[in-house]
Amino acid sequence: MEIKNICCIGAGYVGGPTMAVIAQKCPDINVTVVDINEKRISAWNHENVNNIPIYEPGLSDIVAEARGRNLFFSTDVDGAIDKAEMIFISVNTPTKTYGIGKGMAADLKWIELCARQIACIAKDDKIIIEKSTLPVRTAAALKDILYNTGNGVKYQILSNPEFLAEGTAVQDLLNPDRVLIGGDIDTEEGLEAVKALCNVYARWVPEKRILTTNVWSSELSKLTANAFLAQRVSSINAMSELCEKTGADVNEVAKALGMDSRIGSKFLKSSVGFGGSCFQKDILNLVYIAKSFGLDEVADYWEQVIIMNDHQKRRFADNIIKTLFNTVSGKKIAVLGWSFKKDTNDTRESAAIYVADHLLNEEAEIVVYDPKVEKDQVYSDLDYLNTRSKEANRKNLKVSNDPYDACKDAHAIAILTEWEEFVEYDWEKIYENMLKPAFVFDGRNLLDVKEMLRIGFVLKSIGKPQPIKVMADNTALAS
Ligand code: NAD
Ligand code: UDX
Repeated sequence: MEIKNICCIGAGYVGGPTMAVIAQKCPDINVTVVDINEKRISAWNHENVNNIPIYEPGLSDIVAEARGRNLFFSTDVDGAIDKAEMIFISVNTPTKTYGIGKGMAADLKWIELCARQIACIAKDDKIIIEKSTLPVRTAAALKDILYNTGNGVKYQILSNPEFLAEGTAVQDLLNPDRVLIGGDIDTEEGLEAVKALCNVYARWVPEKRILTTNVWSSELSKLTANAFLAQRVSSINAMSELCEKTGADVNEVAKALGMDSRIGSKFLKSSVGFGGSCFQKDILNLVYIAKSFGLDEVADYWEQVIIMNDHQKRRFADNIIKTLFNTVSGKKIAVLGWSFKKDTNDTRESAAIYVADHLLNEEAEIVVYDPKVEKDQVYSDLDYLNTRSKEANRKNLKVSNDPYDACKDAHAIAILTEWEEFVEYDWEKIYENMLKPAFVFDGRNLLDVKEMLRIGFVLKSIGKPQPIKVMADNTALAS
């Protein structure tokens, strides 16, 4: 089957970059990314390519190359569905905030709307691709909706979960560890659809990295991959607390573990806690699915990953309060970093939101600086929690576009995202302008311990013996 037109519903963090790369690699295929969010689409079409709505290293160059040639962004969802032989569904699947499964299950409202719209518009056979992360067996529900319109159109439903990580999306898309395609591989039509999608990726992904499975394995593999990744972070974070009590150093422990080739060295960086739109939502979804099959032990096992992560965020904030002589009331605390990781402007579930909220409850005066996150986003993240009035959030938390101003006269600095520019700052100057003792809480173990202590800071890192002192031989050690 020859594919000439692809439509992607959802121009978000996945739909936008994924389709940009497909368009770049397949100049003979027209790729149209559609969204109901007009503001987002007009930002994707902004004449200055640096103003596209998603910041990802390398993305603007790819958009500049393909946009207008064979990559289009549009709000005409019906038109794009009609034209395409292949439709990716890449809409949001957040945790349900109401009704049955509230706080756990994935909300499939937007997925269902897409299926109904496709069913209503399609006049010829289509390949429908689940790009969003979905509960296992969602393809069956999609099939039910699509086939109940009686217009005789045939559909093949494939699962093609996305494994890109934000901040490295372009690299991950250009050079993926694997591309996973689940389809109805027991039928001829199913196999043909799988092949059509394989052919798209085969333009730049080596064949041995394109993996085909049945639909259910593919759907479940995505949730499992995120659960395993998040579990590694929670596992090392659990160890970080033990390190702080025992004199072990979590970086040294992680290195020793990571050199075991069975364990591997990636994803063992202890932090203030994982954030992002995926880990928490996908694990909660997994927990919900396990519970709904009566698998309570399985559910409890995975839920612990979230419990540990909440604990890590909470204990980081509590440590600030405790260290600042048990009160932060009226004290200025500079928060460096608001995004959930470096090199992205995405703030969904960022640890910074929860740490700041906790400190605001303790009457701290917070000033936030982040190189890529807009002021309105910071406030909207806090307002969303509904902990206090919008006015109180704006009164007690300010957003600065200058890190030195943010840190001026502060009692403490909290580093919550690992932006590389933080390392390059003139820390002597920052120290001069802070109140003493000058506390730094490094939630990413980013800063050079010895140098910070030499300057005079009281430094609290994650998973390092506390307090840290410089010894006569110039090594940094626990006292
Ligand atoms: P997002 O919120 O950034 O984008 C989703 C977009 O879909 C929004 O712009 C929304 O307006 C649009 N949309 C919703 N319903 C629509 C409809 N009926 N018609 C047209 N547009 C509609 O979400 P995202 O981060 O891109 O995630 C999308 C999916 O991919 C989720 O299931 C997520 O779990 C999964 N995923 C995300 C990542 C990531 O790093 N963000 C990685 C892998 C997988
Ligand atoms: C994740 C998965 O990595 C990706 O495969 C999937 O498609 C989407 O979810 P993402 O959330 O974008 O990607 O970023 P990731 O690099 O996984 O980081 C998630 C969070 O974990 C961040 O807050 C990050 O700072 C934190 N993290 C990651 C750690 O604290 N320590 C680590 O060692 C790794």
